[in-house]
Amino acid sequence: MIVLQRVAELIKGLRTEEIAILRILEELSKRFEYIPLEEVGKKTGLSPDDILFHLSSLNKQKLVQRRIKPYLGYRLVIAGYDALALHTLASQDSIISIGQPFGVGKEATVYSALNAEGEEVAVKLLRWGRTSFRQARRLRQLPTSFSASWIDYCKHAAEREFTALHTLTLHKVQVPKPIAINRHVLVMARMEGTLLLEVRDLKHPQQVLNQILDQVRNAIQHAKIVHGDLSEYNIIIDEENQITLFDWPQWVSTRHPNALSILRRDISHVINFFRRRFHFAIDSQEAYHKIIHDSGLVQKE
Ligand SMILES: Nc1ncnc2c1ncn2[C@@H]1O[C@H](COP(=O)(O)OP(=O)(O)OP(=O)(O)O)[C@@H](O)[C@H]1O
Ligand SMILES: [Mg+2]
Repeated sequence: MIVLQRVAELIKGLRTEEIAILRILEELSKRFEYIPLEEVGKKTGLSPDDILFHLSSLNKQKLVQRRIKPYLGYRLVIAGYDALALHTLASQDSIISIGQPFGVGKEATVYSALNAEGEEVAVKLLRWGRTSFRQARRLRQLPTSFSASWIDYCKHAAEREFTALHTLTLHKVQVPKPIAINRHVLVMARMEGTLLLEVRDLKHPQQVLNQILDQVRNAIQHAKIVHGDLSEYNIIIDEENQITLFDWPQWVSTRHPNALSILRRDISHVINFFRRRFHFAIDSQEAYHKIIHDSGLVQKE
């Protein structure tokens, strides 16, 4: 069974005490790598035997991991963290069931889900650092003071993306509308269409490219946000040739010292793709200068 569906099934059967213990492990993960049994005891009114019983059950369900030496301790694993987030989102009716994955990538997994109104939504679980915590940190330009566990790291990524989607939606940039967030899990409107990467032929490439560049301009002019990872992998196009820009956790503010070079890179990725795929070429430099001119962004380079 697909991992998240297994977790979604599991949480239906979790006891209140087990959820409480998962929450305690989450809270104490800032202080311990493996949380000693006594520390869990201090936070619950349960007897040591009961705690051990619940932890063993959570361990069997692969929501926590046990270490015996040098002391008996437990820690939350990703599935346990997923369970906590899904449990909260389900209790808010933001999602009531999980369906098939839309996409499984290195840094996120996106599933189809249903909300309480029976509408299909998309659920994105941030997995930053799954491949390499250090490298991810370097690439994502987090402040050096950001010394956090993978839990905080994924949560931070989801919050960043949620903030961007919220601001961009307010400014009418075409992005998936954000619906809810908990921990490292983001719920957003489901996008319809085809990934630009998979489009072989376009009737009006110029029109589509202009639309994309218009959205990029709109994002910097009104939302003050640069995407930071724009490419054919993060643009979807629907049957009416309307485009949506998605995957925003690595956005930077237009005030970021590297904002302009990041913007330039975003623009050239898209333009190079149109040249290669649709044999439609415009000058990348010109497009970049036009966008910063039209948006009123002062050129600092
Ligand atoms: N709101 C949505 N509605 C429908 N499908 C979506 C939605 N958001 C993302 N997807 C699908 O999930 C895939 C991965 O999403 P996204 O690009 O946001 O994550 P990612 O971090 O880039 O993952 P990867 O490591 O694969 O690049 C997308 O290519 C798309 O197919
Ligand atoms: Mg992506």
